[in-house]
Amino acid sequence: MSAKIYYDDDADLTLLNGKEIVFLGFGNQGAAQAQNLRDSGIPNDKIIIANREDSYAEDAKAKGFTVEHDFGKAAEIADVLFLLIPDQVQPRVFNEQIAPKLKATATIVIASGYNVFYKLLNFTPKQDVVMVAPRMIGSSVRSLYQKGKGFPCFVSVEQDGTGSGLAIALALSRVIGATKAGAIASSAREETAMDLFAEQALWPNIIMLFREAFSVLKEAGCSDEALCYEMWMSKEPAEIFERAAEDGFIQQLKHHSTVSQFGQLSGALALDGSAARAHFKEILYNQVLNGKFCREFSKIEDDLEKEGAANPLNELYRKSEESELGQAEKRVRARLAGLL
Ligand code: NAI
Repeated sequence: MSAKIYYDDDADLTLLNGKEIVFLGFGNQGAAQAQNLRDSGIPNDKIIIANREDSYAEDAKAKGFTVEHDFGKAAEIADVLFLLIPDQVQPRVFNEQIAPKLKATATIVIASGYNVFYKLLNFTPKQDVVMVAPRMIGSSVRSLYQKGKGFPCFVSVEQDGTGSGLAIALALSRVIGATKAGAIASSAREETAMDLFAEQALWPNIIMLFREAFSVLKEAGCSDEALCYEMWMSKEPAEIFERAAEDGFIQQLKHHSTVSQFGQLSGALALDGSAARAHFKEILYNQVLNGKFCREFSKIEDDLEKEGAANPLNELYRKSEESELGQAEKRVRARLAGLL
């Protein structure tokens, strides 16, 4: 199944003529996208940065943008509203301060599917809700644009209230620099599924494999120092993924010795993936797509602001650091820093 890819030529910039564009948030993505959009020719007096009074607001002012601290006022004039504050604060801020004031035909632009897929934001039926989701951190969104290059990005229409949702999404994608390299047609569902699947299925397994591999090799007499370097501190895994992106997931193996290539390819083919597959499906369907994780996470969300053991994330860190891998790495790092 191949996705449609949109390029600069697919975007009609005249659709943005005269539109008031508000960026709610001037952080990683907000700062990058607002500057790219202005450098693409959207007049500065048509751009407003809606931001609470903080260092991000100061940064926006220093960069010559008009800053509005009253979100309601900014919402009232917005034809297009980029929702670029952290995902966990979006529902409260948007539903309480933005939505009641937003025009009935405004376009809301999200950069992540989570809150839309789980229906945590309140839109009215004639509004357009589009996703323009760069697959890069904000600094790269900006630096690649400045180099005249594009960046990978997902684009979708989640609610086509005006009938022009896609055309507006493409025009906006183009002015932030996303259609230069090709913006991939996607959806909030697809983006959320892949994001949360990676976070809740793929990477937990990788962490578990490293933890168990460390333990087995340590039991066989390998030293903490040798293991830490062999497994990650040499940055070899980072290089492997860099090569995978450049040369291909399988083809990168050709940079390894023949013994290594043989071991990796024959080993992977010999492994029966059915248990992993069943586990992955369970996470995808019964934790991510059915909204179970979202419902459970919303119950503990407020606790994540707490200090010490009352914060569930601190407890997860504490338990994870108790592993042989975690303890050994602490000793190795202390020794390297000359503390032991
Ligand atoms: P960020 O963490 O950089 O956001 C900071 C901005 O949010 C500042 O303007 C700050 O004043 C404002 N803010 C923070 N807390 C607030 C609150 N309680 N009330 C009002 N304003 C508040 O956000 P980031 O990382 O740029 O993410 C924005 C969106 O972009 C999210 O949907 C995220 O998933 C998405 N995204 C982020 C990427 C990244 O590079 N970090 C990559 C792709 C998408």
